Amino acid sequence: MTPSEGPIRRHLLPLTAKKTSAGALSIGGLSLLDLAEEHGTPLFVYDEVHLRSCCRQAVAAFGPGVAYGTKAFLCKAMASLAHEEGMMLDVASGGELAVALAAGVPGDRLVMHGNNKSIEEIAAAMQAGVGRLVVDSFDEIGRLRGLLRRSSRPSLSVLVRVTPGVEAHTHEYVMTGQEDSKFGFSLSTGAADEAVDALAGIRGVEVVGAHAHIGSQIFRTDAFVREVAALASFVARHGFGELCVGGGLGVAYLNEEEAPSVAEWASVVRSAGAAAGLTADLRLTAEPGRAIVATAGITLYRVGTIKRLPGLRTYVAVDGGMSDNPRPVVYGSGYEAFLPRSPDASRPLSARLVGKHCESGDVLIDDARLPDDLAVGDLLATPVTGAYGYSMASNYNRVGRPAVLFVAEGRARVVIRRETTEDLLALEP
Ligand SMILES: Cc1ncc(COP(=O)(O)O)c(C=O)c1O
Repeated sequence: MTPSEGPIRRHLLPLTAKKTSAGALSIGGLSLLDLAEEHGTPLFVYDEVHLRSCCRQAVAAFGPGVAYGTKAFLCKAMASLAHEEGMMLDVASGGELAVALAAGVPGDRLVMHGNNKSIEEIAAAMQAGVGRLVVDSFDEIGRLRGLLRRSSRPSLSVLVRVTPGVEAHTHEYVMTGQEDSKFGFSLSTGAADEAVDALAGIRGVEVVGAHAHIGSQIFRTDAFVREVAALASFVARHGFGELCVGGGLGVAYLNEEEAPSVAEWASVVRSAGAAAGLTADLRLTAEPGRAIVATAGITLYRVGTIKRLPGLRTYVAVDGGMSDNPRPVVYGSGYEAFLPRSPDASRPLSARLVGKHCESGDVLIDDARLPDDLAVGDLLATPVTGAYGYSMASNYNRVGRPAVLFVAEGRARVVIRRETTEDLLALEP
């Protein structure tokens, strides 16, 4: 796809994004130029109104069983926000579980995932009284049996994670519904039925439904229709009252992209359920992650170096890179960039936007479009970085992770502070 030279389009920006009287961009009533001055760069800025609105839309579309996929972005403030707005929280490790609990989210509003849960993680989930445990393997069933033998817990509601044999149109690394997968029990080999039988024999376990997740960054909703169709007879055969279709709804990252809304997604899923003969009283739920947080977040960087190679290309280097956004390197994902001082400027300059890491592969945007008056010292923004940016961030090159701000109504709160050199040294004796 040819990158667009026009200004950044409105649908890639958070809901409260606006121009200040000076023509710069503000979010939550605060100028991005001022936020960068005060808090430094790189900096993640989340629009709280946007986050809350996405959570509400998800609850309106799917009902109170819908869970926020916390792997997309998690900290205590995010966990309490999603909980306050009526979502359950999907956690996929002991660490995510601990953060959600530390935020005060009640255990029964949590869904515990993981393809290789340790005994300690299952025990912690049981101790927290999670609302749903999504069982992923026969080894896990063995661990669960052992733990329940020694537990006085009344009953544990379990979903069986199924691989429905559906291939979504997305990157191989985020495709999870196909047969050749590390996740879940195969429907076609009968493993999923065997898992239900094995779980039924464990005292204290109640198998309430099925769960599947076919992948992430999916634009074509027909994949979800195929998912529901594939699962319908399994759900009916076992008389389940619940089916979770997982997460995976795509979002637009580029000017040219458009994604279905959560409401459209829910309506497609519901119609697919009806067409497949699932009854209307079935609790049909989902676990959106990216669709809740991606567009609410934006990353601010400072331009430090511009290297022009005549006849080759121009490199623009910023003060972050693959450590705060590994998606371009891992998945070849595309992003846009713009200058918050002039968000409406056209972007005729073609440049490779790179980070500060000791690696040629440290590319944020391979062919970025930027205003041609771009200069060293400029503040540069990449929108739609709210999902799988901070949550996948690393300390590569011993670079500290950025601070994260939530902004709303003219106020900014630091929800994760910037990592310091002391933090980086803290683990070493
Ligand atoms: C089980 C499960 N649920 C939900 C999600 C969230 O997916 P997304 O952020 O694409 O909506 C994921 C992502 O990997 C997942 O594995």
